[in-house]
Amino acid sequence: MIRLKGLYIHVPFCVRKCNYCGFYSVDEFDEGVLNRFVEAVVAELRERIPFLKGSPYTLYIGGGTPTLLPAELLDKIVDSVFSSLGEPREFTVEANPKTVSLKRLARLREMGVSRLSLGVQSFNDRLLKVLGRVHTSFDARSCLEWALGVFDSVNADFIFGIPSQNLEELEADLREVLGFPLSHISYYGLSVEEGTPFASWIESGVLTPVEDDLWAKMYDTVRLTLTEAGYNHYEISNYARCGFSCLHNLIYWRRREYVGLGPSAVSFVSGRREKNVDSVKDYISSYESGASFEREVEVIDPDKECVEAVMLSLRTSRGIRVSELTECGGLMRRVEELVSLGFLEVKGSFIRLKEEFWSVSNRIIAEIV
Ligand SMILES: C[S@@+](CC[C@H](N)C(=O)[O-])C[C@H]1O[C@@H](n2cnc3c(N)ncnc32)[C@H](O)[C@@H]1O
Ligand code: SF4
Repeated sequence: MIRLKGLYIHVPFCVRKCNYCGFYSVDEFDEGVLNRFVEAVVAELRERIPFLKGSPYTLYIGGGTPTLLPAELLDKIVDSVFSSLGEPREFTVEANPKTVSLKRLARLREMGVSRLSLGVQSFNDRLLKVLGRVHTSFDARSCLEWALGVFDSVNADFIFGIPSQNLEELEADLREVLGFPLSHISYYGLSVEEGTPFASWIESGVLTPVEDDLWAKMYDTVRLTLTEAGYNHYEISNYARCGFSCLHNLIYWRRREYVGLGPSAVSFVSGRREKNVDSVKDYISSYESGASFEREVEVIDPDKECVEAVMLSLRTSRGIRVSELTECGGLMRRVEELVSLGFLEVKGSFIRLKEEFWSVSNRIIAEIV
């Protein structure tokens, strides 16, 4: 892969917060805030241009719900990116089925978007209610049809392991997923995030999480169904048709450099990880008051570098380059132990997690780091 840099823009607004989501976004805002947010993002971009200029790059506008921004405001952000950096190699926008029409999708395409990522989660209306989604399965199906008519590259996000979901419901979702000619599918296992309604309902016993055994069975059902249908399982939760892996996400997993703009966005620049303040109000006011953007900085020393390399690379089908591990002392020894126990395998100059153990990847990676 050529040395691409990544540019991520976080649009932290949602129609309503979903019950499971721990990403930073707000569901109370007005038009004035959206305008001021866009001004601040454009200013933050100006600050980051020297780092990005001259390199091929990918652009990913995510959230939150980027399609909640009026088209003119999204245009404003994209125009300033294109005029300072030229066109990206890949340009993804995330969309929620409740917030787009066929016309809006066509407008995104005209704006230069090459890849649309749609948050579907499930085709089961009961489960969509449990998740607290604002759309129905009907909205999701219509939106998928439109997106496939407009874009060559369409991803849809799904979730399994939703409290109360059974295996038959998951299989029904998978059958329906395969009816759409998607070039990419992200199928995430539900993770219970601190501070979300799901976390407090589980703690108080109102909601029961899916048992570990069922969770693993669901993971393997997704994996086997999608790989048998011809998708390349290139990361724990990601499946792509040949040539449609997400270049932007590969930048994260391969620890290449990227810049994140907007509240709560993270950058990885010159060996430092920098996290923007997770407050729309503070993000905008630091820009408007003329102060510099507030960021938490973490310097990645060689030990952390090893831990990160293992944690990120072992999530991918390629695995970790042996030469990267040789600098990693004790960690290298634990990897060798897991190779001899049969959990990891050596493939050419890479070591990777055997696919049959991907359902318990977190536990295996925790043994190493
Ligand atoms: C940051 S969200 C943005 C997508 C868009 N806002 C939407 O939901 O339609 C990206 C994806 O992460 C997944 N996701 C978010 N929270 C999750 C959680 N707690 N467990 C598993 N997947 C999650 C969902 O599949 C979601 O579509
Ligand atoms: S999953 Fe998407 S729509 Fe739901 S709260 Fe999170 S970012 Fe917003």
